[in-house]
Amino acid sequence: MSVNVKERLVDIRFQTGGPAAWKAPVMLVFACKGENPADNCPEIADAAPWFTIAPGVRDFSGDKLEQALFHGHPDLALPRVLALGLGPRESVTPDIFRRAAAAALARCRTLGLEGVLLPAGQFARFPGGPTRLAEETVCGALLGLYRFTRLRTPKEDDKPDPRRLTLGFTENSVPDGFHAAARRGEHAAVGVALARDLANTPPNILTPAALGEAAEELARRHGMACTLLDRAALAELGCNALLAVGRGSAREPRLIVVEYAPRGHEEDKPLIFIGKGLTFDSGGICIKPPQNMHTMKSDMAGAAAVLGALEAVALDDLPRRVIAVLPCAENMPDGDAMRPGDVVTSLAGKTVEILNTDAEGRLALCDALTYAQRNWTPAAVVDIATLTGACAVALGQEVAGLFTDDDALAERIAAAGRVVGDNYWRLPLWEPYQEHLKSEVADISHMGPREGGAINAALFLKNFVEPGVRWAHLDIAGTDWAFKKTPLSPVGAVGFGVRTLIELARGGV
Ligand code: BES
Ligand code: MN
Ligand code: ZN
Repeated sequence: MSVNVKERLVDIRFQTGGPAAWKAPVMLVFACKGENPADNCPEIADAAPWFTIAPGVRDFSGDKLEQALFHGHPDLALPRVLALGLGPRESVTPDIFRRAAAAALARCRTLGLEGVLLPAGQFARFPGGPTRLAEETVCGALLGLYRFTRLRTPKEDDKPDPRRLTLGFTENSVPDGFHAAARRGEHAAVGVALARDLANTPPNILTPAALGEAAEELARRHGMACTLLDRAALAELGCNALLAVGRGSAREPRLIVVEYAPRGHEEDKPLIFIGKGLTFDSGGICIKPPQNMHTMKSDMAGAAAVLGALEAVALDDLPRRVIAVLPCAENMPDGDAMRPGDVVTSLAGKTVEILNTDAEGRLALCDALTYAQRNWTPAAVVDIATLTGACAVALGQEVAGLFTDDDALAERIAAAGRVVGDNYWRLPLWEPYQEHLKSEVADISHMGPREGGAINAALFLKNFVEPGVRWAHLDIAGTDWAFKKTPLSPVGAVGFGVRTLIELARGGV
């Protein structure tokens, strides 16, 4: 099985010299509520005077995500303007740029337009920093085009994506920072698209072995090292918790390790990302009810997010070492499956009593945590996992749980998430609940009561973190999947967390 990622979604270009020198089928103009749609873009008045006086501009109110298409003479170099509502000026955030740009590019695809020009002077009229807003807009624009079409026969009316997204400048050369910002936005979008592709791929196709192949392909694309540990290698090592999760499946588990270590940084303390990679979670012997069971094909969204982040890190050429450790398995019921009551010896040597075979993610993750800390001295370890329904119940589908005892790391992650639109809420690693993880027969039980389920899972993981290691756990259950389409994502995997991890790598922790 091979998962082919489009290396580039759309060609990102730059035009300088102002509107008199620009050329594109459509120009995108951001407009605030109650203002003239041309207010943020006065420089286009000369090139598109018909736009500023078009009768239709009076019907356009600038509400959030409102759109209006204005036509000039078809022979003009800039024959159309697509106005995009941002809502009231005082409430404009980077998020609305992402969403408006996403909706705009989707509209351009519907219209069959080949290229889109975005006058970049607009960004200076809003807080947030012009290059950051450009980055977010480029990323949003590309994500608005994302679709998962690999498994269906192309339809007659499937429209091709616009081929070009151009930033337009009034200056005679591209001002400092915009090339890099556009590239960062593009790389992030490529990373998110990879994560979505992987998490949307059905579980009969994306098996643990196939996820390993996808990781190998990613590594090959960027000259990274990739190690795949199969069932025999995991048994040899003693990863019995991860092996227990995969016992009921005809498809072997894998521990996937990808290392990005650019020249001169081979010996850095690595930033380590650990991603839960359950290619399907039926619940095992404690089988789940059938409603929504199919969404458990994305129980590897954590692993997918880590691979997506690594793609962007490599495209960025970041000068730091980043390592992915992905425990992957399929959780199935079977005559040889793990049972409630089983006790396994984890890689750390701790014996673990398994009470509910549906609490499998933490079993996979605990061995990955040990593996990471045994092999490297990490600068920080961040794990990301669709770990508990309890987290989704507590925080809903738009906010993920953030667990760490390290206040600085918590703030770093929350701040990174805020900038890119991955929202986190910190939940406590409430030490007294460790009591709940006591077992009569083993060193530790893998779960506590239903109450505080997300905390209990996080506390279980904490038992596998060595003292002094900076560690955070992101529970993305619920946030990883869109049940309704939004401008930034169709129904399905959204790639939650990819951009958070990219920001952590770019900015340092
Ligand atoms: N993969 C699930 C968690 C999940 C639920 C992710 C909903 C996304 C949406 C996880 O493996 C699981 O089944 N957890 C159990 C744990 C329980 C048995 C202690 C849960 O949350 O019910
Ligand atoms: Mn489960
Ligand atoms: Zn699971």
